[in-house]
Parts: sequence; C-alpha cells; structure tokens
Amino acid sequence: MKSFCIIFLLILFVGVFFFYPYKKDLENKEKENHLEKNSQSQEVVNPQEDPFVLALKKEKYYIEEYLHRYLSYSENKEISASMVIQNVNSNLDKEKYLDTEKTDISVDNLMLVNKYYYLTDDFEPDDLVVLSSKYNSGANSKMRKEAAEHFMEMSDAALLDNISIKNASGYRSYQYQVDLYNRYVERDGKEAADTYSARPGYSEHQTGLTSDINIIDDSFEKTAAFRWLQDNSYKYGFILRFPKDKEHITGYKYESWHYRYVGKKVAKQIHEEDLTLEEYYAFYVRNK
Ligand code: DAL
Ligand code: ZN
Repeated sequence: MKSFCIIFLLILFVGVFFFYPYKKDLENKEKENHLEKNSQSQEVVNPQEDPFVLALKKEKYYIEEYLHRYLSYSENKEISASMVIQNVNSNLDKEKYLDTEKTDISVDNLMLVNKYYYLTDDFEPDDLVVLSSKYNSGANSKMRKEAAEHFMEMSDAALLDNISIKNASGYRSYQYQVDLYNRYVERDGKEAADTYSARPGYSEHQTGLTSDINIIDDSFEKTAAFRWLQDNSYKYGFILRFPKDKEHITGYKYESWHYRYVGKKVAKQIHEEDLTLEEYYAFYVRNK
C-alpha cells in the first residue's frame, strides 16, 4: 500500500509540473496563430495603398482594368497621375504599328482608327454617298450617309454666315491610301511621312466618317472657315481630329483641316471636355 501511494504521488507530480506547462504552451501558440490570421484578413479588406495608386484612382478618366499598365508606364518616370492616365488610355505604352488590333467597327460612328487600331484592306462602308459640287471640291467626294447629311447641314449653316465649307477629301479606299502614303515616303522618307500621313489600313479616311475641309495645308488655319469650324463644327457632329496641343496623343502633326464625324452628342461632349477621340474612346466606349 505504501509503495502504491508513492507511485500515485509521483504520477501527480509529473502531470502537474511537466504536462501542464506543455498544454499551456500549445494553447498560446494557437492563440498567436489565430491573431496572425485575423490581422492578415484585415489587410485585404483595408489595403494600405501607395499614394500614387490613390492619386491615379482619384483621376476622372481612371480605368480600373488599366491599373497595372499605369504602374508599369510610370515606373522610373517623373510624371503626374493625370498624364499617366492620358498617355496610357491613348495607348502610348504600346508600340505604334506593332502592338495593334483590328478596330471594333460595331461601334459605328465611334470607331477608332489610328496607329494602334486598324481597318482590314477589304473594309469599305456600305452606305457611302457622293457629295455634289455644292459641297465638294476634291477627287474623294464620298462620305457615309449620316456623316454626309450632317456635313451638308454644317456647310449650309456656314453659308448663312458667308463662309464656304467644302469637302476636299472624304472617303479613301485602302488602295488609295497605299498609293498616297508611298508617294509621301518617296518624297520625304518614312519617318517624316509617318508624322502626317497614315499607313494603309490606319487612315480614318477609310471609315468614310472623315473630311479634309477646303485647303489641305497649314494655311487653312488662317481662314475664316477655320475659325467658324472652331466655334461650330461640334454642333453638327464634327470634331477637329488632330489638334495642335495633342500631337503626342493622336500621333500626328496638327491638321487644322481634318475633321471627323462622331455624332452631335459625342462631338459636344468631346468639345466640352477638351478630349481627343483616343481619350474619349478609351474611357467612354471601351471601358463601358
Ligand atoms: N493625314 C491623316 C493622318 C491620314 O492620312 O489619314
Ligand atoms: Zn485628312
């Protein structure tokens, strides 16, 4: 009996002094793990974001899907959030004529054709109409029906102010652009030609929604017709497509004579928000 009591006390002693602290240790570890997991899940809900990311997100034309492009474009650059958004929305982080895609023609009057979005060589609008000599002065006298109707409406309104507005170059086929561009390359070299002439498939003249008006050179800017268009073209659905201060976005030298039909509502918005078609398209067409 005595030896039994001694063994019992021994077991009790070992249990209290060895296993109890071990159990406590396990409990504490479990608690720590739980706290750690909790703090991790709180981090996902409340991210501590980079101030530059927050600045990008505050910008009016921010596109969530482009966040990774904004960040890689701004890497190692001293550039504001608004410039990053303007440039990336206009695809300036891509390689002109290389990183391209076929343009979405289903958006109709809003289709974008530039150094990143092209039309195939067989694309020809099926509703081209010929402008009469009252409204036309050049060899390429066709435009798409809706654009032509609004062009005539604009020309009639200008005439009431004693201003003559005539189409000098409207729809141009893919093949026509091949010949035109090649002539410019022969004359000035490819690098220079690319600053003012579109490569075949990349000219919005092929959309049938474009008109070069009256005089196809810089002297047009000095005319009363140009000033009238500055104040009024948007009321008829036309925008100045390659403005002076947006050459880096459009990819072309300023062309005071080149107008693009986008419809009255969109032209008014583009005019009011001072956008190019590139910027409008990224935010209001593609982003929707
Ligand atoms: N001059 C414009 C860019 C064109 O060739 O379409
Ligand atoms: Zn043009």
